Amino acid sequence: MRFARVWAARLARSCTASLQGKGNSAICGLAASAAASAAYVNCSERSTVQCNSAFQPKENRKAEVLSSPAISMLMSVIRDKRTCQADYVRAADRLMAILAEEGIARLPCVKPQVIQTPCGPFKGVTAPDGHTICAVDIVRSGGILLEAVRKVLPDLKTAKILIQRDEETALPKLYYSKLPDGIEKLHVVLCDPMLATGGSALTAIEVLKKAGVKEENIMFINVVSCPEGLKALAKEAPGVRILTCGLDSHLNEVKFIVPGLGDFGDRYYGTAGYAQGFWGTNGR
Ligand code: PRP
Ligand code: URA
Repeated sequence: MRFARVWAARLARSCTASLQGKGNSAICGLAASAAASAAYVNCSERSTVQCNSAFQPKENRKAEVLSSPAISMLMSVIRDKRTCQADYVRAADRLMAILAEEGIARLPCVKPQVIQTPCGPFKGVTAPDGHTICAVDIVRSGGILLEAVRKVLPDLKTAKILIQRDEETALPKLYYSKLPDGIEKLHVVLCDPMLATGGSALTAIEVLKKAGVKEENIMFINVVSCPEGLKALAKEAPGVRILTCGLDSHLNEVKFIVPGLGDFGDRYYGTAGYAQGFWGTNGR
């Protein structure tokens, strides 16, 4: 009940803030994307494992924002507040499958190699060895993305870090972590769908660094990011690579991403918001 009350108050405040002070948030988001797309990665300047359907945002030089027609289509479904839970879960899972593949293909253990097709040589890349990789999720929503990574490489190692944002202050609280032995020697893929203030990701990165993992060996994959989160990581963890499907406009006064998609975990798991009519109003 308390949760529902907090949510109702937060949503009401954030809608008012959007309408009053921030102008048209969707247009802001598009403007941010357009500005950032000026910095599109030139394929010929990058290693063969990079694709040109990504750009590097100015807020964080270690970040790449993926872009493709499939990503735009799936992002539109999960951003749309009318989307019901079943459609949300289906679209989010499809999107995360793409993000997982793109993240794994960017790991440094994927190297150029010439392979032989039945008809001749081809300049390709190696497939990564799951034993050299550890996927880490920030529980709860990070687990959804982690499962997408584990589908690609079922034999990788897995770590769990339970961090929750305080509903009032948006500050992260660390509850639990379980990391595999030898994690300091592995490539780490940190999974969490949302990069808002960056507090949760930085708390998780701190746990990993205490265990001996170097920032350079961490790739943080997420679905939606914002300038505030990218800047926080550039300042506090400049060696960490970031791969995201969206760079939005800004955070609102209750630290939700605008335009964003609302609460990723609540929409995926159905824990809050549907009964209140915040989302899922297409009724299916
Ligand atoms: C969400 C999200 C991130 C965090 C991002 O988690 O999954 O972990 O917020 O916000 P930040 O960048 O400001 O830290 P939340 O704590 O709401 O938990 P959930 O996964 O259970 O929904
Ligand atoms: N967590 C979410 O689920 N959404 C946001 O916009 C910010 C944090």
